[in-house]
Amino acid sequence: MHLHSTIPALRTALKNAGRVVFVPTMGNLHAGHISLMEQARAHGDIVVASVFVNRLQFGPHEDFDQYPRTFQADCDKLTAAGVNVLFAPTEADLYPEPQEYFIEPPAIQNMLDGEFRPGHFRGVATVVAKLFNCVQPQAALFGKKDYQQLMVIRNMARQLALPIDIIGGETVRADDGLALSSRNGYLSAAERAEAPRLYRLLTGIREAIRSGASDYAALEATACAELAANGWQTDYVAVRQQSDLTTPKVMNAPLVALAASRLGNTRLIDNIEI
Ligand code: PAF
Repeated sequence: MHLHSTIPALRTALKNAGRVVFVPTMGNLHAGHISLMEQARAHGDIVVASVFVNRLQFGPHEDFDQYPRTFQADCDKLTAAGVNVLFAPTEADLYPEPQEYFIEPPAIQNMLDGEFRPGHFRGVATVVAKLFNCVQPQAALFGKKDYQQLMVIRNMARQLALPIDIIGGETVRADDGLALSSRNGYLSAAERAEAPRLYRLLTGIREAIRSGASDYAALEATACAELAANGWQTDYVAVRQQSDLTTPKVMNAPLVALAASRLGNTRLIDNIEI
């Protein structure tokens, strides 16, 4: 695996590289990321990963400083996964001057996670657009675990006519159903044992809807109540249309149930397509 930290070095390395598939990450890689790297191989000739903890997408009281940075272990995992090129810029490489131009996503940035993390999707969309300009891939993979992020990026690519196929990778789960996430490492042993409840509740909502339930507000409220009774502080449990993440309006539109809830100091998100 070739490692580059500057934009000119990366561009030189990728000149005439064939079809480039890109998987951006913030590092602290787990099996979910590695699964994306493996899926990427099927979509092109060269797999490029990036590791960059993007300050722009963290709120002032969020975990930017605390975010786990495990660069050497990440390099070993990416090498073992057969990634060809790693782009790992420093902040000075990617933001040599204060970033004053932004990608401003539309209303989707203010709903669900965006309501609780103001500016988050603006920071994500801006860094992803910038990384796309550095790597110039033909395809890029994003995990479905961050469902709203995937939609923001997919809509951005379509509306800005970016010549990049945006591909959603399936969520990888522990045996008990907990979606793999870099933030799971913050959980205490007791919290880790409790954490799979989120996925169980989303699965329950999916099964109820498949069996004909249509009072989504009642399903959401029941799930919130069970979370509260077990010590969670919930931001949202929501049944939404997959296409635009708005509340279901169209008959038989594909749905997704999404949730964000805090266990102790750790905020977990998850979702399940219906
Ligand atoms: O999903 C992530 O790890 C980040 O939001 C991303 C897409 C790498 C942008 O910083």
